[in-house]
Amino acid sequence: MGLYEWLGNNIPTLLRPTLLLSLAIYHFCMTILEVIFIQHQPSLLLNLTQLRHKSFARLWNRNGAAMSIDMPGPITELLSQCRGLVLDIGPGSGEVLSRFDASKITAMYGAEPAADLHRGLLQNAEKHGFAGKYHALLCGAEPESLIPALYEAGVLDRDRATEVFDEICVVRVLCGVPSPRETIRGLYALLKPGGRMVVCEHVVNPWRTEGSLAARLLQGVYSAMGWPFFMGGCALQRHTAEWLREAGGWKKFDLQYVEPQTAIPFVVGELIKADA
Ligand SMILES: C[S@@+](CC[C@H](N)C(=O)[O-])C[C@H]1O[C@@H](n2cnc3c(N)ncnc32)[C@H](O)[C@@H]1O
Repeated sequence: MGLYEWLGNNIPTLLRPTLLLSLAIYHFCMTILEVIFIQHQPSLLLNLTQLRHKSFARLWNRNGAAMSIDMPGPITELLSQCRGLVLDIGPGSGEVLSRFDASKITAMYGAEPAADLHRGLLQNAEKHGFAGKYHALLCGAEPESLIPALYEAGVLDRDRATEVFDEICVVRVLCGVPSPRETIRGLYALLKPGGRMVVCEHVVNPWRTEGSLAARLLQGVYSAMGWPFFMGGCALQRHTAEWLREAGGWKKFDLQYVEPQTAIPFVVGELIKADA
C-alpha cells in the first residue's frame, strides 16, 4: 500500500480522538460557567478534582449513550453471559446494562464514584430488568474505597472469605483509576476461585507487534494535549493487559486486541481465576 493510500485509510481513525478531546474541553468550559452562573458556587473552582469529575459526568451524561452504541469486539456476548453475584466497576450512567441478561444475575453491585451519574445509572438499571437487583455504591474501585462500601452494603462480612463475586466487569474504566496495579490486585482478591473477569479496556498501542507506531506516537501527543485532564483522569498509554496477568493465577486468560492500529486500541476478553 502506498503512503497516500495509507494516509487516506488511517488519518480519520488516528484523528478521531481529537473530536473526543474537543468535546471534553467544551464540557469542561461549560461546567465552569454552570458552577459560576447557575450554581453560584465559584469556590468549587478551587477544587480541581471535583471540577474534573463534574465535567466528565456532564460529558458522559450527554454523550455516554451515543458512545456506547458500537462496543468493541465480543464484549456484548461476554456481558450477556454474566451470572450470579456481579461486581460492575465504574458503570457510569449504566449505558452497557442493556447488554446483560438480568434474569441470569442474582445481584449486581456498581462501584461508581461520580455521584452525578447515579441517577442515570439507577434509571437504566430499572429499564433493563434489574429492579431490586442493582445496587449503586458511591465508591471507587480502589480497595480502600470499595471494601468499606461492600461491608456497608452487606456483601462482605467479617465471618466470610472476601472472594465472593462470580463475575467482575471492568468496561472502559481501568484507564481512569489512579493506581491501576493495586486496584486490579484488589479486584482479583474479590473474585471467587473459578470466577470470571470480563474485560473491555483501552490500552497502550501494541506497536511492536500488531499495532502502529504512528498511533503509538499520537497517544503521546494526545496525552500531552491534556487528554487525562479533560477526560476524567483517563490515561491512553496503560499496560493494563500485563497488569491483569500479573494480578494472580488465571486458568484462562483470553484477551484480544480490537482496532490495534488506532490511538485507542482495546483489549477485550475474559479471564477465569484459578481454582483454590
Ligand atoms: C468511560 S466511563 C465508562 C462507564 C461504563 N463502564 C461504560 O462502559 O459505559 C468511566 C467510568 O469510570 C468511573 N470511574 C472513574 N474513576 C474511577 C475509579 N477510581 N473507580 C471506579 N470507577 C471510576 C467514571 O466515573 C465513569 O463513570
